[in-house]
Amino acid sequence: MKYFIETYGCQMNVHDTERMAGLLEQSGYDPAESDRDADIVIVNTCSVRERAEEKLYTRLGEIKEMSREIGRNPLVVVAGCVAQQEGGRLIKRSKGVVDLVVGTQQVKMLPMLVKETAASRSELFMVDGRPWRPEGRIAIENPYEDPSFPLGIVRRGDPVRAYVTIIEGCNDFCSFCVVPYTRGHERMRSKAEVLAEVREAADSGRREVQLLGQIVNHYQAPDDPSCDFPALLEAVHEVPGIDRIRFASPHPRHTSDRVIAAVRDLPKVCKHLHLPVQSGSSRVLAMMRRRHTREEYLDLVARIRAAIPNLQLSTDIIVGFPGETEADFDETLSLTDGVGYHSIYSFKYSERPNTLASKRMPDEVTDEEKTRRIVALQTLQRSVQSNLFQRSIGTTHQVLVDATSRRHEWELTGRTSGNTVVNFPGPPEWLGKMVDVTIERTGPNSVWGQAVGDPR
Ligand code: SAH
Ligand code: SF4
Ligand code: F3S
Repeated sequence: MKYFIETYGCQMNVHDTERMAGLLEQSGYDPAESDRDADIVIVNTCSVRERAEEKLYTRLGEIKEMSREIGRNPLVVVAGCVAQQEGGRLIKRSKGVVDLVVGTQQVKMLPMLVKETAASRSELFMVDGRPWRPEGRIAIENPYEDPSFPLGIVRRGDPVRAYVTIIEGCNDFCSFCVVPYTRGHERMRSKAEVLAEVREAADSGRREVQLLGQIVNHYQAPDDPSCDFPALLEAVHEVPGIDRIRFASPHPRHTSDRVIAAVRDLPKVCKHLHLPVQSGSSRVLAMMRRRHTREEYLDLVARIRAAIPNLQLSTDIIVGFPGETEADFDETLSLTDGVGYHSIYSFKYSERPNTLASKRMPDEVTDEEKTRRIVALQTLQRSVQSNLFQRSIGTTHQVLVDATSRRHEWELTGRTSGNTVVNFPGPPEWLGKMVDVTIERTGPNSVWGQAVGDPR
């Protein structure tokens, strides 16, 4: 029996896919080359914006068509944030395409649910800790409820970087955001579990660890009162074999001077912060319930820059939030220009189910206007980024090689500590090695260079 998983959304979902793959392989399934050779096709979905959610319905149509072509029906599973949001409605809405819906907190149950669905030949969904058929609740035993096996087995998909969840869920309820509804309330993993997973990642050859949480720097170990986020960074720093530590995403509000000092003082912690700002206008930030102002954010950036001058920043920005005026948007432009991000992720506001904004603030900026704003923001960012990249020509950086190019065997790709993507010629054996690279020319989203010295 073979499985195929396709993943949409953030690193949490990428990591959940690794967990689903690990659990299925432990139960005797093998990975398939494509959906056409698979007995189980899993779509791991994202619901953060409407466009992301629509992809699921497009894919389900394609899977139906593919089943007709190959003359058999693989078991179709929907997992992830749309699964959690829609539950049993997905089975009805997909008219016979979806066999099983697995919520975000039920990943560990996947093998058992797959077995049950295949054996009973009836659709099943589980999004609230209990399995249901369209006709009603059913009882099945779950061998994966073993508490000593907290998040299940992981089959890591990346040869270089290991994702390690430290916090699941979110309690912040920013007014635009669906994540607290799809991922549930905030749960901290124990320091012991986190460190055990980091050690296991190092033993399996991963040199970089990325700590994950919706507000990753809100961490407080449930098993050690003295271990907050900076203390956890120190503990992870001690693990032999790990050479780089990243984390996503920190919230500006919890980026304390101790967090800044830990990033500055721990050499393995990468000199990059993805610090989502969402808007440059304090008025819009208040409506978004982000709990920081423009001035507080800019003050934080100034403190970070004073402490760690070579640190690179990136951010997330939403344009066209309900009530965002031209003047508010100008403040977003001026903040983006002033901070000088190495990269930004920009999104048009999209109304999401259950959120405060969807209930109280009608989506009133037209799509045309949102497009105009996002184009203006991206044009500005391109010039900011291009200036920063130009300035890096001639400098040398340690690059951890994380991929070989698909186009040319000899082209390698990696990231600097600051998170800039660097392409350079080199042999495939350098995958996973640290190489010093001198930057020679720049592209729109990455730079090109030449290796100097021997890889480590
Ligand atoms: N926990 C992270 C964000 C996770 S969602 C944080 O607080 O920073 C990733 C990004 O998607 C957000 O930072 C936001 O910029 C964007 N986003 C979330 N909901 C959105 C919506 N309804 N419309 C448009 N963009 C949205
Ligand atoms: Fe969403 Fe806000 Fe939580 Fe981030 S902090 S996941 S934006 S509610
Ligand atoms: Fe999307 Fe869920 Fe992540 S909504 S961004 S996959 S937490």
